[in-house]
Amino acid sequence: MSDTYSKPDTRPGNPCFSSGPCAKRPGWSVAALSDALTGRSHRSSPGKAKLRAVIERSKALLGIPDDYRVGIVPASDTGAVEMALWSMLGARGVDLFTWESFGAGWVSDTLKQLKLDDARVFDAPYGDLPDLAQWDSSRDAVFTWNGTTSGVRVPNGDWIPEDREGLTICDATSAVFAMDLPWSKLDVVTWSWQKVMGGEAAHGMIALSPRAVERLETYSPPWPMPKVFRLSSGGKLIEGIFSGETINTPSMICVEDALDGLTWGEGLGGLPALIGRSAANLAAITVWVENSAWAGFLAEDSSQRSSTSVCLKITDPWFEGLDGAAQAAIPKKIDALLDAENASFDINGYRDAPPGLRIWAGATVETADLEALFPWLDWGYATVKAQLAEAA
Ligand SMILES: Cc1ncc(COP(=O)(O)O)c(C=O)c1O
Repeated sequence: MSDTYSKPDTRPGNPCFSSGPCAKRPGWSVAALSDALTGRSHRSSPGKAKLRAVIERSKALLGIPDDYRVGIVPASDTGAVEMALWSMLGARGVDLFTWESFGAGWVSDTLKQLKLDDARVFDAPYGDLPDLAQWDSSRDAVFTWNGTTSGVRVPNGDWIPEDREGLTICDATSAVFAMDLPWSKLDVVTWSWQKVMGGEAAHGMIALSPRAVERLETYSPPWPMPKVFRLSSGGKLIEGIFSGETINTPSMICVEDALDGLTWGEGLGGLPALIGRSAANLAAITVWVENSAWAGFLAEDSSQRSSTSVCLKITDPWFEGLDGAAQAAIPKKIDALLDAENASFDINGYRDAPPGLRIWAGATVETADLEALFPWLDWGYATVKAQLAEAA
């Protein structure tokens, strides 16, 4: 197959396919930031109004229930997840579900940093999902909605009872704005600005159900709590976090960019349009993969396949016969080759994942750009394979 692909002559209009920070929305330029409240205090009344607008417009666009609190917190999605783990875990036993690198990080936090004794881990290899039905809903649960490094997502919330006693703590950073989330089944949901809406990386977002707020107001963990993790004080939720009074200073340029993303999403027609764009991108990739002689999805089960961080493995028998180091070099070379051609940036799989390619297909990515990328992938693979065969 190595000589069947010639070099394409059309490049994607936007070659940015990184899984974070993700492509900016179509038509974005720095002019979108011209109203940023630079040089002003984030605690001034226009500063707080902008922060409050990020909260209120995110809540409206996502259809988050009225009785949930949405706040802006330090340190992007990582900060949001960790403040939830540090603030809420330990009140009950916890079940941790992991199937890729980020989920594994939350397990490590819980076992090695918080040192919780009553923790059960349910894991699965890259490409699979653990059996979520094993969750005992009298315990807390921690999981990612979309495993960004394996391209495997939770298909639905059917395994989460409405009348659970434990809290569901969900890192949903590469799912929010691109996938339907069953909000009433999720007690803590976190995301960042830099993912589906293509915002600048900065602060994170956290949504809390009334039961999560109750946990914060009735449980005080035994370990010290750094200021940037504190969601409650003296048995009361710190209300300011949920009305635009951030714990520490945010970049008002990043705030402006988050607002620009929301304006774009609202103008498209809201959440269904954003979800529809990502679904259409996955559909386009699926057609290409189904016709590919060398690429397949890492996620075998199509109901669990991510529509944002699409992870591909190489199925060519020649590749499968190589040793691990030789395999790992190939997607890296394809990434470098396509980067040098300005055809795509940042498509090598995550460092801990099996060797393969990862292509972001969230709402900011145009389907036409993916269609323009596919011939480059074929050409890149064939070129790298031919080079290696020649060197052998
Ligand atoms: C599932 C998941 N969790 C956490 C993170 C870390 O996010 P951040 O760097 O925004 O803190 C990422 C980033 O890719 C992610 O995909």
